[in-house]
Amino acid sequence: MQHGTGNNESLMQQIKKIKQEKNALILAHYYQPDEIQEMADFIGDSLGLSQQAADTNADVIVFCGVHFMAESAAILCPDKLVLLPEPTAGCPMADMAGGEALRKMKDQYPKAAVVCYINSSAEVKAESDICCTSANAVKVVQSLTDYEQVIFVPDRNLGHYVSRFTEKEIILWEGFCPTHDQLKPEEIAAAKSQYPDAPILVHPEAPPSVVDMTEHVFSTSGMLKYVKETNHANYIIVTEKGIKYQLKKDNPDKHFWFPSERLVCRDMKLTTLDKVFNALETLSPQITVSSDIRMKAIQSLNRMLAIGRESKN
Ligand code: 13P
Ligand code: SF4
Repeated sequence: MQHGTGNNESLMQQIKKIKQEKNALILAHYYQPDEIQEMADFIGDSLGLSQQAADTNADVIVFCGVHFMAESAAILCPDKLVLLPEPTAGCPMADMAGGEALRKMKDQYPKAAVVCYINSSAEVKAESDICCTSANAVKVVQSLTDYEQVIFVPDRNLGHYVSRFTEKEIILWEGFCPTHDQLKPEEIAAAKSQYPDAPILVHPEAPPSVVDMTEHVFSTSGMLKYVKETNHANYIIVTEKGIKYQLKKDNPDKHFWFPSERLVCRDMKLTTLDKVFNALETLSPQITVSSDIRMKAIQSLNRMLAIGRESKN
């Protein structure tokens, strides 16, 4: 097999060329390595990336992210080839919920609506009424006007955050993101004592004790928007460190402080330029979803996307 070789710049040129030949679109999440974000056609949060996947005219989507993201693109775009350059890049939180266990919980709470975080498998999406991301979770739960009970799967921290904005009973799944859940309030407090004027921006995957320390709770795209629209010299950023690439690109004169060295998602860092080139050259590894699961899972994704589109108008 012919590998893309050489330094980053020449690899990026090779990727650009082969991408045009194959009519491919390269999507990357904000947690991806810097050079992957630099090379991608579109960088975004989970919501923005799903919207791009749903709307593209490309024949091939190269998803620089983790498995559930490529799987969501495969659900939304059955006629396109969806590639995940590193097939073992998963999301430990998504792996904490399975279809069988969710069906059991639904039997326990037959009157509850099921809201799944997009960080979940196709099978879990197929068992859910509607999907959400961290950018729209509150709005999605509030849209369920016919329900008093909601099963929220799999992120207990995002579910807990949503419960602050609704009278509904939120039944939490015991899943969590290992990267965000390990954060301790003392670590944030230490950063704050070093930069007392810096606002603290927290992702809702963090534990409630950390969320309690700020009123600025945002998805990754929400953080980027807040920083662009405000004028501080320093910001304390409580999410995965990959976001620093876009923060710095948008705001070269501002400073960003991460309160923990451990704010790194190992799976997000598995993508390399070599793997992207090889994926385009060999049109593999491909991510597919069986049609029976896809037909059900697409409904929960489309319901979420419809809410996103309504809010734009
Ligand atoms: P968002 O970019 O949608 O905030 O998601 C964060 C995340 O953990 C993705 O895996
Ligand atoms: Fe999953 Fe957390 Fe990594 Fe996002 S940061 S992919 S939620 S493990």
